[in-house]
Amino acid sequence: MTNEGFYRLELALRRAMPESFKKFWRLGRLAVQAVPASAPQIPQAQLEGCQLLTNRYEMLRRLPQGGVVAEIGTYQGSFARCILDAMAPARLHLADITFSLCRADVLADPRVERHEGLSVPFLQSCADASFDMIYVDADHGHEAVRADALAAAPKVKPGGYLVFNDFARIVRPGFGVLGVHQAVCEFAVSSGWPVAFFCLESEALYDIALRRPA
Ligand SMILES: C[S@@+](CC[C@H](N)C(=O)[O-])C[C@H]1O[C@@H](n2cnc3c(N)ncnc32)[C@H](O)[C@@H]1O
Repeated sequence: MTNEGFYRLELALRRAMPESFKKFWRLGRLAVQAVPASAPQIPQAQLEGCQLLTNRYEMLRRLPQGGVVAEIGTYQGSFARCILDAMAPARLHLADITFSLCRADVLADPRVERHEGLSVPFLQSCADASFDMIYVDADHGHEAVRADALAAAPKVKPGGYLVFNDFARIVRPGFGVLGVHQAVCEFAVSSGWPVAFFCLESEALYDIALRRPA
């Protein structure tokens, strides 16, 4: 089986596991995972124009209306529903390994195009500079988010937005389990893209939006 085949199998098993078993899986992973490096600091100059928002729904109201949008990782489709309602996109591309749990009204919306499969091959298949916003919310591991960010960045239009959900670093002494913060900070520092929105969230799993320079 190829690496991609193993990865798909792992994702399918993770989805199918009951929640109680998932806890043991995560504990087992904690025991073997390497300590993550500290994330690099995003320079202050990239944060000067950032708007602090009470939640991610406020961000949707401030993003471009009527454009072309992608959500990477859709699950049950609740945020896709919000994107459709708040941004009124002309086209909403949804990418997920399966849409079996996604709500029917989202899948039936004529503006929605679904892409069943892994995130990176989907992003790589898209034309450069074709999205007003790409929302990344799939695999939250450091390497996976890093790969999604690198594949998504050239697909964002100049002046468009690359948004990451669950901008968090969950680290126990010696263990690292949630790598979105690490991957996004690395991407922000290497790309120089300014931070446009930072959205609070009740579980401190924040959204962060970077804007591709025009
Ligand atoms: C946190 S959920 C998305 C939640 C959704 N964005 C929302 O806010 O309502 C993550 C989803 O990403 C999908 N996923 C995980 N890894 C993926 C990958 N490598 N490629 C595509 N989809 C993936 C999972 O199947 C799951 O449905």
